[in-house]
Amino acid sequence: MNKKDFIEINKNGWNTLIKNNKPFSNTILPEYGPFLKRNENEINIMNNIKGAKVLDLGCGEGKSLEYLFNKGAKEIWGLDISKEQIKKAQMRFPQFKDNFLVSPMEEEVNIPNNYFDYIISIFSIGYTSDLKSTLNNAYKYLSKEGTLIISWTHPFYYCLEVVDDKAVVNKSYFNEESEIIMKGPDKVNLAQNNMMISTIINTATDNGFYLDKLYEEETVLKDDVNGYKSPFWRKEKTVNCPSTIIFVFKKH
Ligand SMILES: C[S@@+](CC[C@H](N)C(=O)[O-])C[C@H]1O[C@@H](n2cnc3c(N)ncnc32)[C@H](O)[C@@H]1O
Repeated sequence: MNKKDFIEINKNGWNTLIKNNKPFSNTILPEYGPFLKRNENEINIMNNIKGAKVLDLGCGEGKSLEYLFNKGAKEIWGLDISKEQIKKAQMRFPQFKDNFLVSPMEEEVNIPNNYFDYIISIFSIGYTSDLKSTLNNAYKYLSKEGTLIISWTHPFYYCLEVVDDKAVVNKSYFNEESEIIMKGPDKVNLAQNNMMISTIINTATDNGFYLDKLYEEETVLKDDVNGYKSPFWRKEKTVNCPSTIIFVFKKH
């Protein structure tokens, strides 16, 4: 799939999802992902949030940023491909209205360089059409010693499917091809990249980051996510595989 089509599918998809007012599946801070036993309140990755400048790549309607603001972050910035979501984020943060930009995260935009203490991307990174340019941009925006936190579906979780109430490996972990997924009860089309753990780490370190920590957190076993029985988020898969992976990268 070419980059332009990939971005277009996601722009339309995410605008539609927000219009239909569909909640995300526990991918808003303090939650790092569905079914996790611990959230940011317990893991405490952002222990220097007071007074921090924060940028969210794929900020949606700004709910993760709201959590961080309430914890003491002093300056809030967000970037999202969906105009509809950015409008909502701007309504949430009228005082930071000009800090919210509509753009794919893979394109460099007018955001201050060497500036942010934290850049977060909570369940958005697989929707970029270009991981390399996205991480290269993040590196530019981040201040020296700043932290980049990325949470995403655990790459091995993608390989599992439930057949006869059992999780079976149905896809190769090595297969990194883009795919179209249907999200939520309305089956909205989104384009997504499945990346191996090494691909994400090596792309980040090639861009100058170092890996500070990797989290593969324990999960709780549940039949639904926020009342919705997702065909993807299944208890049978979660028994043996983390639902989510959290990367903490730092800039030298
Ligand atoms: C699961 S939501 C993330 C929710 C968000 N972390 C929050 O706190 O509410 C994924 C978000 O990524 C955005 N997105 C998808 N592709 C993108 C891209 N290429 N660049 C920027 N944002 C993108 C979507 O519009 C959506 O808001």
